Amino acid sequence: MPKLLRIDASARTSRSLTRALADHFIESWQARRPQDEIILRDVGSNPPPIITEDWIAAAFAKERSAEQEELLALSDELIAEVADADIIVMATPMYNYGMPAALKAWFDQVVRVDKTFTFDLARGDAPLEPVFAGKTLNLLTSWGEFGFATGGLNEGRDNLTPHVRTASRYLGVDAFHHVGIEYQEFGDARFEASSEAAFSAIEPLVDTLIGAPELQTNQTRSAA
Ligand SMILES: Cc1cc2nc3c(=O)[nH]c(=O)nc-3n(C[C@H](O)[C@H](O)[C@H](O)COP(=O)(O)O)c2cc1C
Repeated sequence: MPKLLRIDASARTSRSLTRALADHFIESWQARRPQDEIILRDVGSNPPPIITEDWIAAAFAKERSAEQEELLALSDELIAEVADADIIVMATPMYNYGMPAALKAWFDQVVRVDKTFTFDLARGDAPLEPVFAGKTLNLLTSWGEFGFATGGLNEGRDNLTPHVRTASRYLGVDAFHHVGIEYQEFGDARFEASSEAAFSAIEPLVDTLIGAPELQTNQTRSAA
């Protein structure tokens, strides 16, 4: 049976648009497949600690002290959640043109040598390889401004979606979907239309994911 991992990164727990998009995604999924397990990770409310010099030393240590194991305990837990998940739902605002610090802290805890990627110079100029594969990432965003696409007013200023997309390679993500709301800060008809379009895109996305051959294969594998 496929498992979902829902990650929330908004610092707001009330009136959060990204949390509302994620709620709608999960409700749509559960309406179709109530049996699937959902893992919840709210980094917006409980940000993981920023990695430190000691954390990096522990991550790269060949043999670890009990103290180093303890230092990596949360990282182990977060990585286990990613390892378990087939479908990742990542709900995140844009803060200062990029991802919230809490989500970056999560990535730094999760993307770890010999756990989520291997490093081997025998591979030449591309020594890093992800450990996991076959996962689908659904990125649900909201931002206050608009026009971040090519030709738009804010072209070149979206450092959120490209960053998540690039780093998600080390989560084992092969398929990437993005649904986003724009114009939040304007609160006008353009915001209403953008919000409506984003919420309306969720159910068809869930239908596509549930009908995808990978999901059917996963089901067959778990049933065997
Ligand atoms: C600290 C902070 C920084 C923000 N920075 C940006 C920004 O750089 N660009 C932008 O378009 N919107 C920015 N916004 C607006 C948010 O992206 C927008 O309010 C979004 O809806 C927040 O997500 P949420 O509704 O899930 O909390 C910022 C909001 C906050 C609170």
